[in-house]
Amino acid sequence: MHAARAQVVAVGSALPERRLSNAELAARLDTSDEWIVSRTGIRERRVCEPGQGLITLAEPAARRCLEKAGVAADTLDGIIVATITGDMVMPATANLLQHRLGAARAWAFDLLNACNGFVAALANAATWIESGRAKRILVVGGDVMSSLIDWKDRNTCVLFGDGCGAVLVEAGSADGNGIIGFELHSDGGPASELCVPCSGSAMPPTAEALARGDHFLKQNGKMVFTHAVRRMAEVATSLMRTHGLGAADVDLVVPHQANLRIIEPTAERIGVPMSKVVVNLDRLGNTTAATIPLALADAEADGRLRPGSRVLLVAFGGGLTWGALYMKWGRG
Ligand code: ACO
Repeated sequence: MHAARAQVVAVGSALPERRLSNAELAARLDTSDEWIVSRTGIRERRVCEPGQGLITLAEPAARRCLEKAGVAADTLDGIIVATITGDMVMPATANLLQHRLGAARAWAFDLLNACNGFVAALANAATWIESGRAKRILVVGGDVMSSLIDWKDRNTCVLFGDGCGAVLVEAGSADGNGIIGFELHSDGGPASELCVPCSGSAMPPTAEALARGDHFLKQNGKMVFTHAVRRMAEVATSLMRTHGLGAADVDLVVPHQANLRIIEPTAERIGVPMSKVVVNLDRLGNTTAATIPLALADAEADGRLRPGSRVLLVAFGGGLTWGALYMKWGRG
């Protein structure tokens, strides 16, 4: 047992104003509301204005979270921002956020783990707190996927949206609420099945690369789909087994929101009814690292997430990377 347990005590969120409906996409592309809803469950998504960086969502999400927790930014020990669409490669968006919040004592870094980013960041924060090296960490999951998407590619553009969520993680009593366990995995073998080829040192942004559209997200949808269903169920089941948990020990499942056809079989395989599963992709689409904190914020707002709620997070994304985390929500 660790000396302290990492408690997740508050959540805040922020979304861009602009809603983009399936009907609007169907007016521009060879697609339809019926196709998108039946294949994914998505009805609309939010999108930033061109050039609107992640910090414009991360700051309000973080401020709302800190306000709900009743915590001043200058008491934070650290800030982790999980994202694949930070404002810039350097500096980290976490640094921009640290300055804007006035979190003068906090270290800050970004964590790159695609759709599993928030689970990985939360696991990271828990480890800092359990080790005694930090007492208060802000964990942000946010992405501006509209900046990575080829809006002419119907295979990908209908799936994604923009948004950001933040949670505050604090040291609490070792036998109280908080993060009880997590499990993280990765497999770089199929990395090229879901990637952004022109986004780093391997392919600098030359005029040729940009003309080819290599700066846009590419994916093998079917392959990603099959892996996501398999891996999300596998990791959730494994984590539950490790901690001797049955479906009755889970009040709420908060899965990564990529596709309703991924979420439903995952829930079925872990034996949890859909009534316990938070789904908001119909309104927000796949916001990558933001899906889970945004879903936590929705569940808290509608009263499903309360202090003491036993919550299972599960995610899968580019890398490939996947993970699950089990916690009791709130202070106490
Ligand atoms: N509108 C209409 N037709 C479309 C569209 C669209 N928006 N997109 C693709 N199609 C067409 C395809 O071109 C294909 O046409 P063809 O048969 O003439 O070649 C046809 O629809 C069927 O395509 P499929 O790939 O068989 O459709 P599928 O049922 O597999 O659904 C989807 C595609 C939704 C992309 C699915 O594979 C999926 O969700 N994959 C996971 C992708 C994902 O979530 N990625 C996010 C990052 S990873 C993560 O978050 C887990």
